[in-house]
Order: sequence, then structure tokens, then C-alpha cells
Amino acid sequence: MGSPRWSRRSVIDSPSSPFNVSFLVRSEGLLYRPGMPSLEENEAVWGHDYQWQSGGDEWSAMWGGPTMQWYGAIFPRIRAFLPSTRILEIAPGHGRWTAFLLDHCDDLLGVDLSENCIDVCRERFADLPKASFFVNDGTSLPMAHDNSVDFVFSFDSLVHVEIDVLQSYMDEFARILTKDGAAFFHHSNNGADTSVRAVDRYGKVVAERLPALTPVLKRAGVLDPYAWRALSVSAPLVEKLASDAGLRCVGQEVINWSGRSLTDCISLICRPGSRWDRQNVVAINPDFGSEARSLNKAQKAFGFET
Ligand SMILES: C[S@@+](CC[C@H](N)C(=O)[O-])C[C@H]1O[C@@H](n2cnc3c(N)ncnc32)[C@H](O)[C@@H]1O
Repeated sequence: MGSPRWSRRSVIDSPSSPFNVSFLVRSEGLLYRPGMPSLEENEAVWGHDYQWQSGGDEWSAMWGGPTMQWYGAIFPRIRAFLPSTRILEIAPGHGRWTAFLLDHCDDLLGVDLSENCIDVCRERFADLPKASFFVNDGTSLPMAHDNSVDFVFSFDSLVHVEIDVLQSYMDEFARILTKDGAAFFHHSNNGADTSVRAVDRYGKVVAERLPALTPVLKRAGVLDPYAWRALSVSAPLVEKLASDAGLRCVGQEVINWSGRSLTDCISLICRPGSRWDRQNVVAINPDFGSEARSLNKAQKAFGFET
């Protein structure tokens, strides 16, 4: 998710916090949730608590909007796989990326654990028979037949799931990908960065004592550096999950988001022997946030669509 606007509308207590601090909530939904995300919490947040005031487009503000984010940040990373016969998108939310993916495939399956999100997608893309949407249990993909999906895509969603969920999805990729199919998905890398935990602890203490500093701390990446990203997941672990599932991880970009820590990773998975197969290439990219800010400036000068 992009950087939300901060407001101190209300506070909730966090019994699970080591400091028993109050947590701030943002006007459009929860800003800071204690603990790490479970499937139930994901369903509660995205299916009920979160306001979706611009259908998820609000998270593209850092890039200057979803169109610039798609053409400037996402499309360049997946262009080798498009067009694709059948795309499966995991966790489309309200369809921010679905709208773009649909221009590049014959058939798209969207799968989300939130029934409300799937209802919104069904309504939004009702006039496109090539798009179909399914509620799932957050871990499996029974709507996809064996060896039937050419491209799995997930962005800005699976950062909030722990390693057991990714393991389950990885096993499903091994079942559903076509011979030359590929999976591109964005996940947490917080499991690799122990310094994040210390920073998070100090950030919370300062924010509790000096709430007015909260926006500054957030911008500096010392408050909620996790950005509600899973702590059990890292780039090397995802590479291992792929090999345990009989797949190959062939590309990983370890990235920052709005802060400085390398909290995120995008992994590319394929079958051994497929046309994408190679030794894994890991790119460390601490400039993902800068890339967004640069695109935002270009959008200001040249973006006419929004
Ligand atoms: C932050 S929203 C992002 C939605 C969309 N990818 C976007 O970028 O606009 C996260 C979405 O992930 C979904 N989600 C979270 N965990 C999931 C899981 N384990 N399986 C499927 N969907 C999940 C939520 O229901 C929600 O729709």
C-alpha cells in the first residue's frame, strides 16, 4: 500500500503489543495494526474495515496515480510475459491492476479471500466476459485447472501474508502453471531484516510519547517500517519454497517501499526447463521509492488522464 494520509481520528488498544501502546488509525481505515497479518485479519481489514475511498487507486498516489504506476513501474517488469493467454490474479482487491491486465490476455481469473472485494470486481468488470472472479480460502486456487495458467500476477497484496500461505500458493503454482507459465508476485522481505524490528520498537515508543511527530516518523521510515508486512517471509525463503515445490525462482527484486528498509520483494517463478528457466538473479533495489517519486513528477507534467 502507498503512504496514507495521517489523521488521529481514534485510537485502539493493542493487547498484543509489547509496549501496550495505543495504535493510530487513519481516516480511511487502519493505519497501524498490531502483530502480524493472519488470513482472518486480512479478510477483516480489506473486506470490512478499509474504506476503499478510491477503489485502491489511493495507494498509487506516490506514483502520481495508477496509470503512471502501471506504465512506469509494473508493466516494464512484466512486459516479457504479456500478452498472455490466461492470467490468474491473486488478491485483486477492487481491481486496480485487473483493469490493466485485461488489455493483455484472452482470459483472466481473479481470486480474493474477501467476498466484498470479489463482488466489487464482478460488478466493475461485468461487461467483460473474459474476466471471472472467485472467492477463495486465502491459500488455494481450486478454480484453476492443472497446467492451465500462463501468468500468475499479484501486486501489493501478498506482502501481508505469512510464509505458510505463500507455501500453499507455491504448491498451487506447481499444479496450475503451463509448461512455459510464470508467476510474478510481490511479497514481504521483512523476515530478512532484523534491524527493522529494533527500529519499529523505538518508533512506537517515540510516537506514543510525542504523537505530533507521527507523520515525520512515518516518512522517515522509523514508525511502522513493517507497513503491516509479514515477518516470516524473505526473498531467500521464497526461493526455497519454489525449489521445495519443484519450481524455479529465476528473478527477485528486493525493494524498499515508501521508507528506507528493504521490506519487500518481487519474485518470478517458473517450471524447471521452461523458456524462463535460469539461475536466480537477485537485484537489490533500494530506489523503488525514488522511482515512484520520479514518476510522480513526470505525471505532474505530462499526465492528462486523471
Ligand atoms: C491492499 S489490498 C490490494 C488489492 C490490489 N492488489 C491492489 O493493489 O489494489 C489487499 C488485497 O489482498 C487480499 N488478500 C489478502 N490476503 C489474501 C490471501 N491470502 N489470498 C487472497 N487474497 C488475499 C485482500 O482481500 C485485499 O483484496
